[in-house]
Amino acid sequence: MPVRPIRIYGDPVLRQKSRRVGEIDDTVRCLVEDLRETMKAYNGVGLAANQVGVAQRVLVVDVPIDEQQRASHALINPMISKREGSESGEEGCLSIPGIWEDVTRSQRVHVEALDENGRNVVIEAEGYLARALQHEVDHLDGVLFTDRLSALKRQFLRRSLEALARGELPEGSRPQPGGGGDG
Ligand code: NI
Repeated sequence: MPVRPIRIYGDPVLRQKSRRVGEIDDTVRCLVEDLRETMKAYNGVGLAANQVGVAQRVLVVDVPIDEQQRASHALINPMISKREGSESGEEGCLSIPGIWEDVTRSQRVHVEALDENGRNVVIEAEGYLARALQHEVDHLDGVLFTDRLSALKRQFLRRSLEALARGELPEGSRPQPGGGGDG
């Protein structure tokens, strides 16, 4: 199962609205496995398929719930069907190395999707898992967490983002296995 390279801010695939998956076949299952491997290798808590260059509505999350448990899901054609509350928390993204900012999101979400075997998945999420799911579903719509910041904050980040788009990664922040981020 290969770890796939992460696409960085400025890559047009990150701005594409990803296509719904029609048939869940071995190609899709292989993509899910690669996403899991890649997320793990980069210490991420979530990864959307377009972050490895595949504009399909597929994502994985692997979020710590407490010291013992993690919530781990592969979701195909996920849909956030209900949102409640509002909460601010820090986010980073494997595709936007070196930038971490507080983002306001819904506190609780209800997500419906299929898993890689075509079974229905329903997730009632709150807190960090809800945040990670919203961050990854945003990716599928071509939306990045920096889009959700205030105009003033975006203005502060403009130069850093432009540098990323030119392929200039901040010192020591090139995403690499063990790096962390996303979600
Ligand atoms: Ni991300």
